[in-house]
Amino acid sequence: MKFVGIAGSIADESYNRKLLTYIASEFSPLADIELLSIQDVPMFSQDDDQTQSAPIQYLAKKIAAADGVILATPEHNHTLAPAMKNVIEWLSFNVHPFENKPVLIVGASYYTQGSSRAQLSLRQVLESPGVGALVMPSDEFLLADVKTAFDDHGNLKDERTVKFLGSVMGKFAKWVTVLKAMNEKVPDEPWRQEDLSAGHPSDTTIDVPMDAKDWVEQGAAKTNAASGHDYVQLDRGLLTVDQLNWFLNTFPMEATYMDDNNQFVYYNHFLDHDDMLAPRYPWQVGNAAISCHPERARDHVKQVIWMLRSKQKDLFAMPVPGNKLNEKYIMHYYRAMRDGDDNYRGVNEWVLDIWPIVADYLRRTGQTLAPDPSAKPDAVSGASQSAKPAADASTGASESAAAPVADATSGASEAAAAPVVDATSGASDAGAAPVADATSGASEA
Ligand SMILES: Cc1cc2nc3c(=O)[nH]c(=O)nc-3n(C[C@H](O)[C@H](O)[C@H](O)COP(=O)(O)O)c2cc1C
Repeated sequence: MKFVGIAGSIADESYNRKLLTYIASEFSPLADIELLSIQDVPMFSQDDDQTQSAPIQYLAKKIAAADGVILATPEHNHTLAPAMKNVIEWLSFNVHPFENKPVLIVGASYYTQGSSRAQLSLRQVLESPGVGALVMPSDEFLLADVKTAFDDHGNLKDERTVKFLGSVMGKFAKWVTVLKAMNEKVPDEPWRQEDLSAGHPSDTTIDVPMDAKDWVEQGAAKTNAASGHDYVQLDRGLLTVDQLNWFLNTFPMEATYMDDNNQFVYYNHFLDHDDMLAPRYPWQVGNAAISCHPERARDHVKQVIWMLRSKQKDLFAMPVPGNKLNEKYIMHYYRAMRDGDDNYRGVNEWVLDIWPIVADYLRRTGQTLAPDPSAKPDAVSGASQSAKPAADASTGASESAAAPVADATSGASEAAAAPVVDATSGASDAGAAPVADATSGASEA
């Protein structure tokens, strides 16, 4: 916690400054307390605006950046001293750093009243509309008979006074913490925090411009990356980089890695752009997510990433629009990747056409697809072909991310129209090896 302290006196030997110096050192475990000098603050005049002068700017910036302010006020003629009032005038004229700033008032004076009247006046001044400070209620610390209060090392002599000051400081720190928490903006839509411009580098972010067309090559040179015949030790395996590529490029799906900084860092490049289900160009690798999604899709992309990052979901599954049953049924899956400590490490996105799998299953089991009259189609995820989410053509990301249907166990979408057993035909295709069981539709093979 960071506090600043101002003694409202410009005397060379100010007791109030002495008190603040003591507080800063004695209570350093509680907060970092920096004493601000007001020695050079010019006399306030409305006709000669010196708000931009170094002493005023210095005070304004330090106060604005602090979590709280401790003002130690002398008492002159039953009210606050001119140096203190002068500072407040400047800081309520064209700049207002005290606005909503927690302030603790303390004070030291010669006599038994111990600055009490000055403190009351100062409280009133600080609460005026032009100043707008939040002065800590109920507690005050008055140091009377100040000439005899300190020892030769600048420490307060009386133990009870030290104890009481400690309790006031503790309450102030607590109060500042509570105010801070209350004022912290809690975004009502936390997913908006997702930074698609990849502006929060993680420990794997490579210092290469993200929009470089040769990001991969530049990054490889920079990291001295393994390549070709170099071996890479994996969790349970050891492969050369070539083997890894052959392996990844023969998965029957297009896979993309977007890291925890929302940077697109890999895809298994085995098809040309125009042949891909979710077309990508090799030069897009390295781009921030924002470059891969059109404006209209970005909020949905943010929602999906946020839900994966914050563990509300592990998997989203969604069909792309334009799927025509009996031809193609393209699915996009987004699965959260997490490290051994369960930290989010990015999205594994894969795209595949599940129609060949469905068709093969139907053929082998002797079934056909027929609408289920009692089914309630999932309007978003594609059982109904009419309510289609619009796809982001460049990346395949769906705009309908707000309501995709995730099946965390199997990864299967709920969307496909439920196949019903064609008990009458039940027969398998001629020539196909498996023989369907006409009663159950199950294949023997
Ligand atoms: C003009 C003047 C008026 C003062 N009036 C009071 C007063 O009303 N009450 C009081 O307790 N001390 C009064 N004092 C004494 C201050 O408490 C004393 O000067 C104190 O050291 C000021 O704080 P500083 O050392 O931080 O400058 C007055 C001092 C001056 C010079």
